[in-house]
Amino acid sequence: MNQIPSSPKRHAVGIDFGTTYSSISCLNRHGQPITIPNEYGEPSTPSALLFEPGQEIVIGRRALERAIEQPEKVILYPKREIGKPNKKWYLNGETYTPVDLAALIIRKLLNHAERKVGRIRTAVITVPAQFSEVQRQEVVAAGHKAGLKTVDIINEPVAAALCHVLGTEGLWFTELTETQRILVFDLGGGTFDLSIVHYSPNEVQVIGGGGHLHLGGLDWSHKLEEYLCRKFSQRFQQPVAQDPHFLQQLVTETEQVKRTLSQKPEVEVTCEFNKERDTLKIQRKVFEELCEPLVEETRQITLDLLKKHNMGWAHIDAVLLVGGASRMPMIRRSMKKLSGRTLNSSLSPDHSIAHGAAYFAGMLSSNDGFARSILEEPAQQRLARMSQRSVNSRGLGIMVRTQENANRVPHYLIPTNTPLPAQVSQVFETVRPNQSMIKIPIIESGTQTDTSLVHLGDCRVENLPPNLPEGTEVLVTMKYDHAAMLEVSAKVLEGSTSSRMKITRSKNIVQQLEFDDKILPQRRPKSDSDLRQSPPLINEIQEAKAQKVESFPQKKWQPQTKKTRSKPIGKANTLTMAIIAAEKAVKEDQQVPSSIIKLASSAIPIPLCEDCMEPFDNEGNCSKCRNPMVQAKEFEIPKAVQQQQARFNQKKRHQKPTATRRPKK
Ligand SMILES: Nc1ncnc2c1ncn2[C@@H]1O[C@H](COP(=O)(O)OP(=O)(O)OP(=O)(O)O)[C@@H](O)[C@H]1O
Ligand SMILES: [Mg+2]
Repeated sequence: MNQIPSSPKRHAVGIDFGTTYSSISCLNRHGQPITIPNEYGEPSTPSALLFEPGQEIVIGRRALERAIEQPEKVILYPKREIGKPNKKWYLNGETYTPVDLAALIIRKLLNHAERKVGRIRTAVITVPAQFSEVQRQEVVAAGHKAGLKTVDIINEPVAAALCHVLGTEGLWFTELTETQRILVFDLGGGTFDLSIVHYSPNEVQVIGGGGHLHLGGLDWSHKLEEYLCRKFSQRFQQPVAQDPHFLQQLVTETEQVKRTLSQKPEVEVTCEFNKERDTLKIQRKVFEELCEPLVEETRQITLDLLKKHNMGWAHIDAVLLVGGASRMPMIRRSMKKLSGRTLNSSLSPDHSIAHGAAYFAGMLSSNDGFARSILEEPAQQRLARMSQRSVNSRGLGIMVRTQENANRVPHYLIPTNTPLPAQVSQVFETVRPNQSMIKIPIIESGTQTDTSLVHLGDCRVENLPPNLPEGTEVLVTMKYDHAAMLEVSAKVLEGSTSSRMKITRSKNIVQQLEFDDKILPQRRPKSDSDLRQSPPLINEIQEAKAQKVESFPQKKWQPQTKKTRSKPIGKANTLTMAIIAAEKAVKEDQQVPSSIIKLASSAIPIPLCEDCMEPFDNEGNCSKCRNPMVQAKEFEIPKAVQQQQARFNQKKRHQKPTATRRPKK
């Protein structure tokens, strides 16, 4: 009898794509994360690439060791360039983008893992919580480019928290009995990520996050390199910094010195210059004095985060230290003093992020009925019970015009720290009769440390049917999934004609992927260059900033506490202002044949069902699978949203085949 070939089993693979070091972990049958070492037996691989003409690209330690002497051949830390659309490298006749380089590193990790476990098709890749939509998309693109069919992403601090609650080395599946609020302090090589996480036995939920995208172990290394360079210049009485060979030695030695200073109070360092060797001693105390401003910065960011969430240390049950640079005694001492409590440093600072990602991969495969996971039943069951909820680190919205001076300002529809997944829908109206196209500029806020806005692209609905009356309604929906990946859709409601389009971003520009309307002609996706010819919104944003226009503040997401729950949430002031502003802009724009549309109703983000991503209804049940809204106990659908949903549903029910014109005011 012919055996039907069984589909390959799904491995639970987690990849920590780090600024300085990257690593890969897989869950074994029992659900324990195992780090897979590289060809040198190192658990993590330096994120460095060496391009020798006519030879294979070398990734890892060998590339790192040539970085200073042959900078034209080595690329270091491509993660820092992720999300920069114009960043490119020209090497050996080829052009590489940050996505290409990330893909090469991920492929290298996968190669080693595949030698151990067989073909890998799906993986979870970690990203800093502060990463923007653009950066997240690029990491996913890099995963696909590396040959993965399915790529999920998880925020690094969430991965660390999962690792903490699902068990650490030697404490397999130790379930914490109590609910806890954990502050995850992740100081890596290039980024500082902070998250406040709420743990209950089967759920890890992020309450809020902060950090700095350019603060990490590299900055501590640079301080030490500068100091040692000065000292060696005095010793050799020569400007040693001009010698690339010397600098290469110094950088390699410094990394070792920095690590040893975490163990010993004093370390010797020997370097060679013009065939002369000399040895210096450096004390931990000196290193700590040099780096005090950096430590202070981590303190400030931590306190700011607590303040932003109206919390004190009494609200935090555990402080979890992760990331290689958190090994430094100055960091541990500072956090201990600041928090006044014993720190939890039981997790491996280097591996916990990749391990957490592997746990998350296990959770996803255990919840996927189609996947044949390699996990044994008890591990599958435990992982299937676990869930995680994150928040978005950047606000998402549209540009509107101010009433006072008609400058464009951001109006955030999904504020930062909104629990994910979430979606917001808002009704807009066309402003002219016979309008053929509408365009909504979509923006994402910066972070604390990178404050500029990002224009994600325009949500466009084109080829509207002819003779549409002014005031035709368009429902725009922005949807953020678990991993803060964005999807925007727009639906035109006009008589029996409805058009719907799904857009995703590509190369910092929104691209139409799908136009599923039956009546309207199919449209081919626009090329990026076509879309770039649209009115230059970025200039307008810059212009608005240059004129120091008061911008609408981001409305902070406040989970509904018992105290506030009964109070209906009114329309936010900012929103009302935005609507007025938009209406004013509409009047002014009427002469201009533009595609501007007006805001017709308020919108507040609503939570989505974890399983099917559908919104919850007024009773708090999923409108599709009827799951109750158990995941977000502190969350209640705000009255304003309920009313908006009811209004919209009612309108939909009573819609006549032909649209009626709105009475003119
Ligand atoms: N024992 C140690 N003492 C001091 N620093 C250390 C030690 N071990 C590792 N580091 C530093 O930790 C950093 C690497 O940490 P990690 O691997 O967590 O970061 P990454 O994942 O590369 O970066 P990121 O998470 O910021 O993208 C490096 O700067 C390294 O020098
Ligand atoms: Mg890291």
